[in-house]
Order: sequence, then C-alpha cells, then structure tokens
Amino acid sequence: MEMEEWNEVAWKSPSNIAVVKYWGKHGRQLPNNPSLSLTLSECYSTTHIRFRTADSLRITFFFEGNQNDSFCTRVEKFIHNILPEMPFLSTMELVIDSGNSFPHSAGIASSASSMSALALCLCSMEEAISGKALTTDDFMRKASRLSRLASGSASRSVYGGYVEWGKHLSLPQASDEYGTPIESVHAAFKNWYDAVLIVHSGKKNFSSTKGHTLMAENPYSAVRYAQADAHLGKLVEILKNGDVDAFIALCEIEALTLHAMMMTSGVGYFEMKPNSLKIMELIREFRASTGVKLAFTLDAGPNIHLLYPEESRTRVLPFIREQLSPLCQNQQWIDDKLGNGPEKIA
Ligand code: DP6
Repeated sequence: MEMEEWNEVAWKSPSNIAVVKYWGKHGRQLPNNPSLSLTLSECYSTTHIRFRTADSLRITFFFEGNQNDSFCTRVEKFIHNILPEMPFLSTMELVIDSGNSFPHSAGIASSASSMSALALCLCSMEEAISGKALTTDDFMRKASRLSRLASGSASRSVYGGYVEWGKHLSLPQASDEYGTPIESVHAAFKNWYDAVLIVHSGKKNFSSTKGHTLMAENPYSAVRYAQADAHLGKLVEILKNGDVDAFIALCEIEALTLHAMMMTSGVGYFEMKPNSLKIMELIREFRASTGVKLAFTLDAGPNIHLLYPEESRTRVLPFIREQLSPLCQNQQWIDDKLGNGPEKIA
C-alpha cells in the first residue's frame, strides 16, 4: 500500500540479563551455544518510527533528541541487511527516534533493548503497509528473528520472563533463528529482582561483537560451548523444579566463565574493575554468613547484576545500601526486576 502521508509506529522493549551466556557466533548472527536470560522491566528502550513512501530508502536517526551518526550507521547497516526479509523498506523514508529509560552514561549494554524495539517497530510497519496482521505468535517470532540479526541478545528481549535462544535437545521448539519463552517456571522463580550495580560507566575495552569474533581463536572455545550446552539443560530443569541453590551456583560460574573467555582470547583482556571483584566477594561472604539467597552475574562489562528472589529483598536492600553501593560509581545502582516483555505504544 502506498503511504504518501506520515504514519507512525512505536514500541517499548526491555533489556535482559543472561544466566547462560551467548558468547561466540557464526554465519548470519547464529549462536555457537544456546543462552537463557531474564527479561528486565525498568531498563528499556522506546523507539518511534515515522514513515512514508519515498523513491528510495532514506533514514534519519535521533537518539534522545539528537542526531546520532555512529548509532545511525549501525541501524542503517542492519536495515540494508534485512532488505531481503522486508523489501518494502527499499522505498521508505524513515525518521527513527530512540531513547533509553536508563542513563546512557550507566554503561549498560543497550543493544538488546534498542534493537528489539527497532525490530518490533519494523514488524508493525510491515503489518500497516501490507494490511495483513500476523498472529501474535508469528509476529513475535518474526520480531525475535529480526532482532537477532541486529544483535544476538536482542532476540531474547521480545518475550517476558525467562527466554531461551539457540537450539537445544531439551527444548524441541528452540531455534538458533529466534528466542523461545520458557513456559515451565516454578513459583520459586516467578518474582526475581536484579540490582544493576554500576561499577564503572565508561566505554568497554572491546565491543561484544569483537569479543564474539575472538572466540574463534580461543583455545578453550570447544569446551566452553559444550559447557554452555550442558548448563542450559541443567538450567531448564532448575527453573522447572525450583532449586534456587543450584540456580545460584550455575549463574555465578557462567558469569565467571564468560570473563575467563575474555582473559584467554587473543592477547587476553579483561573488563572487570577492582570493585567488580570486591562486590562479588562481598556477595559470596554475605550469602555464606546469612544464608540469604542471591547470586551475581555480569554481562560483558564491569557492572554487577545482583539477582535475588522477592523473599530476600528486605535483607538485600540494606546490604546494597550499606556495603555495595559505596563501591559503585557515584553510588549508582538500578532497582530492576523480572518483566513481562515489550509493549506496543498506541
Ligand atoms: C555477554 O548480543 O551484544 O551479554 O550479537 O554482536 O550484538 P552482538 O552481541 P551481543 O552479545 C551479548 C553478550 C553477553 C551475553 C548474553 O547476553 O547472552
């Protein structure tokens, strides 16, 4: 359908934190091992796209109101890359406005939320232009697949709760192409929180994309992929049977292994800071001395995600305030929790 006038679509999409980590990819953004994450609630991106028919594809990109060229280049590259999937884009003028709920300076990886919000908008545009609505399941699967092409971890942000990406024997419906929500989750894992402790907000030494590439030469990569595969099977069982202690142990070894992969890739590099280590030690000491259930994990940077169930909250909040936030940059941390996934904005 021709669209002479401006039309608009908008989505809000959350970030996620992986328990079993995606680290290493091949081909067209396909993972070398399956991963599983919690979708967050308070850390999200909001993206609006205004669009109308044009002679050729034209894109203007604003990040929080400012024209942003480096991010625009990534978005442009992505949109060109998906023209075979979405040929209608080749005759569209797009004005994209994107923003995050969390301060840009917090150093939180925003590609999962921003790229999934963008992919969801493109799927809504396609529906508006074709006049054909997909079923919710088909729509979300398509959005997850497109999100993956933009950023692997974004494929998991399209669903709420616990989300898996990558084929695995224990989940017949899982695929390397898109994320799949985990349906069978015990009550013990329903109300979880994530305190995002901002240890350092500067730029990382290496981008995740570079880190994935370096895995090709890492001498431990085959062992790592086999371990991630085994961890994923275990985690699916843990989520089903409610074994919180097993979850904590698996979550922490996954985070440490991710960083071990960085330290053993290429000439070796690390993204943790001294306070990342101090915080992890304090978390383990606190757990050992109080019995309170909580676990740390990290993404590819120095910030610590402290995961804990609702029952631990009255003990964990004072612990953060008194012992952990003094080790954060400007005492900064974000009080986040398990979320329900993206929302379309009317
Ligand atoms: C450590 O999804 O940011 O957070 O696919 O190159 O965009 P690209 O990488 P990205 O990698 C995320 C890595 C991770 C682990 C995870 O989220 O599973």
